[in-house]
Parts: sequence; structure tokens; C-alpha cells
Amino acid sequence: MSQGRAENFDAVDIIRTKRDKGTLTSAQIDWTIDAYTRGVIADEQMSALNMAILLNGMDRAEIAAWTAAMIASGERMDFSTLGRPTSDKHSTGGVGDKITLPLAPLVAVFGVAVPQLSGRGLGHTGGTLDKLESIPGWRANLSNEEMMRQLRDTGAVICAAGAGLAPADKKLYSLRDVTGTVEAIPLIASSIMSKKIAEGTGSLVLDVKVGSGAFMKNERSARELAETMVALGKDAGVNTVALLTNMETPLGLTAGNAIEVQESVEVLAGGGPEDVVELTVRLAEEMLACAGVHDADPAAALNDGRAMDVWRRMIAAQDGDPDAALPVARESETVLAPADGVLVGLDAMAVGVAAWRLGAGRARKEDAVQAGAGVRMHAKPGAVVRAGEPLMTLLTDTPEKFDRAREALADAVTIAPDGARSGQKLIIDRIS
Ligand code: URA
Repeated sequence: MSQGRAENFDAVDIIRTKRDKGTLTSAQIDWTIDAYTRGVIADEQMSALNMAILLNGMDRAEIAAWTAAMIASGERMDFSTLGRPTSDKHSTGGVGDKITLPLAPLVAVFGVAVPQLSGRGLGHTGGTLDKLESIPGWRANLSNEEMMRQLRDTGAVICAAGAGLAPADKKLYSLRDVTGTVEAIPLIASSIMSKKIAEGTGSLVLDVKVGSGAFMKNERSARELAETMVALGKDAGVNTVALLTNMETPLGLTAGNAIEVQESVEVLAGGGPEDVVELTVRLAEEMLACAGVHDADPAAALNDGRAMDVWRRMIAAQDGDPDAALPVARESETVLAPADGVLVGLDAMAVGVAAWRLGAGRARKEDAVQAGAGVRMHAKPGAVVRAGEPLMTLLTDTPEKFDRAREALADAVTIAPDGARSGQKLIIDRIS
């Protein structure tokens, strides 16, 4: 394990070094992560160090050491006995981002196994597991053996990460969440990459979101995050590429749980919103190329039902019923267009917060989510709208939540006179 354990450092010295813009050694970092995981460094000390890192940054060597120490805090999975390449995708989180659902079975169609360890939503961004749990019977927690068996039998698995994977990150992430230190690039990069490297995937495609609904609000910081993560992946022997993609506006026409599953199934049936299809196909091409498959046509596998076949087997393997009716919210309200013109803006953050307030997300980890809650959009930027036409439908089981959701949406919509263009590009850049 880490060499630094033999050495004894002082937490306050380490905090002071970072506070004063100094550089931490690998031995100091190994000790810090190990001591924090064991409870030797207190939460208040780690909070101070996290804030110093957020304000003063880390260099590449420090980020690599921090990531390695978090990997070493737990188990590493190994898919080498599967006898086929593995590829995974990670999104830094956005609104309406249901891409994992059609993507995992789609990539599996071409003989590349997809071990997708996913999380739950916290705050305004949704969680893949919360979405899938709206399918009656579906189970997120699998043993390592069940995961391996499913990968062998169906080629794709989406499940919760076990407690043994990067436990240091679990503890650290909860602390960051309540101390205003989530948005530090070194901490985000090491958090994501420690889990992906420990998971043991052979290749990885990162979807780094940019815009109002993302952690990274501007392209410069998203690019820095993407470059940092790609370098960490490559150094660990994981073939890694990143796409920078737009998160100014939600993906697709739904933000919630069951309604996002329904939209994903439409994509798997060869339909669905254009942006969801475009990003799903592009990410599939990237994942397949990273895994050494260059002659695949993912769009055809969506249209001819092959991806849907894998989806059905993947859901059934985790005790879900792919034919069961999905839960529907008990109450709905419509938001109308306030004017005639072109919808040039539909703010991702506002829609995400509205969906969350309607019950699709949780404020604390132990809260339950409503399967049917969320926001269904009827127009996307670029559409011509008329005053009084429905723009969005708000869905919830608890109608007292409508007012707060409407408040979140107060400035969400921008309508310009006819002739204006919205001009938002979905895929901004590729970093390898
Ligand atoms: N997702 C993660 O897993 N970690 C972060 O720090 C941010 C997003």
C-alpha cells in the first residue's frame, strides 16, 4: 500500500502548506487520504484542506498522487477474465442526462462489455440509479459475482458502486457536498477518475458538461477538467477521451425519473429527441473506437431493435420488468409561453431545480425520490412558439410543490422575435 503510511505527518502542517500555495509531496498525500479514511484527520481539518485546494489548486503530480491514494483506499475490480474489451462512459452531470440508459446496451451490441457503475442524484442533477429504479422490480445493488455474470450474459450492466470501491472518495465527497468545495477541479478529477480506474474498465469516454446546468459553467474550466481527467486515465493505462458538451439547456424533452426512462426507451425504439440520439450515437462511436471497434454503425442498431433487445435483457437480469407500465405523477400543471417568437433559451439549471423541487431529486442522501415527478418540455431552443401555447408540463405527486417549481422557472425561458436563431452546438470539442 502507500509508502507514506510509515511516515507521520501533521495535518495542520499540510493544511498550512496548501494554504500558503505550496506543493504537497506524494508521501504527504498518501498519509492524508489514509489518515482521513481511518478517522485520524478530523472532518474540520479535511474541510480546511479542501478549501485550500479549491482556492490554490494542485499541480498534475499532486492530482495524480491524490487519485492513486483514493484508489488504494479500497478494492480494484478486474474484468480481464471476460475475454472481451470493456468500455465505460462518465458524465460530469447535467439536467435531462439520461444518455447512459440507451448507451450501455447500444455499445454492448458490438461485443464491447459495459460495466457502468452509477450514482444517485444529489441537488439539481439527476441520478441514473434513481431513474432506473422507477422500473418496477429493478434492483441497483449487485454483488461483484452478479455483475460479472450479467456482463458475460448480456454485455451491459448499470448498477451501484459497492462500498469497497474508493471508500476515501465516498467520505470526501459527502464532506465536500456540505462545505462548498465540490467545484474544485483537482478534487472533481480525482474523485471521478479514482472510481473509474478502480472499477477496472479498459477504456473510458468522459462527457464533460459545460453551461448553466453543469458544475463547469464555462468552456475554459470544462476544458481544464477534461484535460486533467484524460491525463489521469492515460497514466493509469485506461484509454481515455473526453467530449465537451453543451449543458446550457436540458438534454431531450424530459427531466425527472420515469419520464426519462420513457424517453430513453423511445430512443432505443429508433425515435426520441434529436439531441439525445446525436449524443448517444457519438458517445457509442467514441467508446467503441476506444475499445478497438472501428467499423460499427450504432445508429443502425438503434433503428433495427438490436440495442432494445440488449436493454430488455439488461433490465430483466436485474429483476426489472421491461414491459411494466412506468409510474405516473398524480398531478400536473402547464407552463405557457409568455409571448410569440423563437425560443432561444431554456435554462438547464432552472429546469433542473424545478424538477428537483417537484420531487424528482433529493435534498439529503436519505430522502426518497418520486418516480413520476419532473418536467416535460414541449419545445426546445430553436422552436417557434406562440403566446399561450404549452411550453412545459410540471409533474408531481405533491401539488404543494408547484409554486416553488414555478419560482425556479421564473427566468428560465427566453423568447426572441421571429427570425432569431438559438445557435447552440451540442458537441463543443473532443479532447484526447
Ligand atoms: N462526480 C463525482 O463523482 N465526483 C465529483 O467530485 C463530482 C462529480
